Amino acid sequence: MASLDTKRVEDMNYFEMLAWLGIGSSHPGGFPATLQNLQSIQILPEDYVLDAGCGSGLTACHIAKTTGCKIIGIDISSEMIDKATQRAASEGVSHLIEFKVGNVQQLPFADRIFDWVIAESVTVFLDKVKVYREFYRVLKPEGHIADHEMALLKELPAQLKQQLEECYGSGTNPLTYEGWCQTLTQAGFQDVEIKNPQPLKNNSNLIVNALKKDWVLIKGLADKARRQPGLLPRLQKNAGFMKQYRSYFGFGLVYGRKPTPPILPKSKSFKDWLLRLLRFQ
Ligand SMILES: C[S@@+](CC[C@H](N)C(=O)[O-])C[C@H]1O[C@@H](n2cnc3c(N)ncnc32)[C@H](O)[C@@H]1O
Repeated sequence: MASLDTKRVEDMNYFEMLAWLGIGSSHPGGFPATLQNLQSIQILPEDYVLDAGCGSGLTACHIAKTTGCKIIGIDISSEMIDKATQRAASEGVSHLIEFKVGNVQQLPFADRIFDWVIAESVTVFLDKVKVYREFYRVLKPEGHIADHEMALLKELPAQLKQQLEECYGSGTNPLTYEGWCQTLTQAGFQDVEIKNPQPLKNNSNLIVNALKKDWVLIKGLADKARRQPGLLPRLQKNAGFMKQYRSYFGFGLVYGRKPTPPILPKSKSFKDWLLRLLRFQ
């Protein structure tokens, strides 16, 4: 299989393009939205956290640095995992974080081991019920899910849905806020709510924002655009779509808690059972 450096940009899917460009915080609202979300939940130093679809590890490293908790980040892309592993080393948090390749639809973990599952802009591209059931399975009772996703603010006409999929990959399907809550509830979560719901802003194109902040990325982009003439038209197409149809989209943190399993009544002893039987005769 061609490595990302030799693959044509036209043949890359959206995730491969993000990994190839080295985009760090690829979700609506970018890293400021992550900071806002982290302020509205409470991750403790003793918590064990999964960052599902961690990308290049910006959020996982930030959580490890600021809370001291242990984290595992998984991503389907080995390029992203390599970048995340380098980031953890350069930020001095390798002792707290492990990054590994894995599929969030089939998590390579035992049941009930995490206190938190964090995800940012992953579920929107996938089978949501399948992903949320997996998150439920690996969380401890009373564990939390905090999934930052794009939401639909009004119905998306079929033609725009098709364009969205052309830009971000087939299967890309943002739900309404109610739809996200229903899907999480359907997977078994309680106390479901959307934290920090907000409309997409004019300046929220994540690739353009990442480039504006990072000269190394811009330099890399110039080299890449020289080698791959298809790159700039593709970036323009994605940015143009979001700019033109921004009013359809918002984002927020889909939050829920895994309930404590119900306590089953203690089984009656044989003596109790016999006494009850005699009493009823
Ligand atoms: C839009 S990016 C978001 C990355 C990161 N969470 C962030 O906010 O910067 C989506 C990420 O999900 C990963 N991904 C897509 N499908 C996946 C799957 N089935 N299992 C694990 N990761 C997946 C992609 O490789 C990509 O890194």
